[in-house]
Amino acid sequence: MGTPAAASSAFAVSGPFTAINVYLTEGGARGTISTSSSLHASAQNRYRSHLVRTTAYGLIPAEFRKKARRLPTAPKPTTANTFIRRGSLKSVTRRRTVLDFARGRGPYVWITAYDYPTARLVDEAGVDGILVGDSLGMVVLGLPNTLGVTMADMVRHTEAVARARPRALVVADMPFMSYEPGPEMALRNASRLVRAGADAVKLEGGAEYAHIVEKLVKAGIPVMGHIGLTPQRVLTLGGFRMVGKTEEQRKKILEDAKALRDAGVFAIVLEFVPASLAKEVTESVEVPTICIGSGPHCDGQILVLHDVIGLSERAPSFAKRYADAATLIKDAVARYAEEVRKGLFPAKEHYRD
Ligand code: KIV
Repeated sequence: MGTPAAASSAFAVSGPFTAINVYLTEGGARGTISTSSSLHASAQNRYRSHLVRTTAYGLIPAEFRKKARRLPTAPKPTTANTFIRRGSLKSVTRRRTVLDFARGRGPYVWITAYDYPTARLVDEAGVDGILVGDSLGMVVLGLPNTLGVTMADMVRHTEAVARARPRALVVADMPFMSYEPGPEMALRNASRLVRAGADAVKLEGGAEYAHIVEKLVKAGIPVMGHIGLTPQRVLTLGGFRMVGKTEEQRKKILEDAKALRDAGVFAIVLEFVPASLAKEVTESVEVPTICIGSGPHCDGQILVLHDVIGLSERAPSFAKRYADAATLIKDAVARYAEEVRKGLFPAKEHYRD
């Protein structure tokens, strides 16, 4: 796309031309203003999140444990019909928290979203969790992998998703090199994501990052683990391929899951490992496992939105496409272009004299 100046000078030469805007993340103008009561409610939710994680693994004093036991149980699974009008305090207080994610309450439905409109739509469709994944680098920004995704990208997209005020839990990915250097940097970056509206953060890696997970959880930031195929390690893994096929890898993944559990994660993503290993991990740790490409024996599933709706250029073999949004968009824009060129658009109802 050219600059607006270049575009307008082109229009002056000959026409009619057809132009259409493509947005990455816009939302400032249509964002929701938080009232002090909604801020209070979301602070309470985060407090509960903190309580459950720390209580579950004995990281906080006993007087808080009683409070955590009195917290409400998980709401019934959301469907489009049970969606509550957004903007009301009620919808805020009934938002998912990490307390809603526990063994036996699944299956949990997770999907990625990276902007305001898709966050609204997936939430209205009734998912339990929304991941602002660093996969946005590939499916939104056109990068070859996730290594180029920055904290600024993650903050911007998390803010856009949070403006939709979803009932689903919002988890934001810690991008490559935002936590590996150490706990101090991890705390700084994770708190930026929480302030951008995330209910929790996700980071890739196992036992080697357990000390960082523990620091974040103790500071009140719930963490989701991610093991198996970890795309941020694509260079050392030698590509986006299944992990856990050898005995040595299986052992490491099991140990990683246990180390993450001990560090206090509220859930673990298991990406592209054999289904038998996913089953073994699920049976070995008490925290819910959320699978992608790892079969049915987990507490939930997660997919990348663009793979589900048919907007990805190349979807992995384990993803399922439920819609063909690419054709829908192309057809709509082609019809618009045709109508402009034929002088059919704008019609009388689209302008005033
Ligand atoms: O970034 C992402 O979308 C992810 C999922 C594939 C789990 O990490």
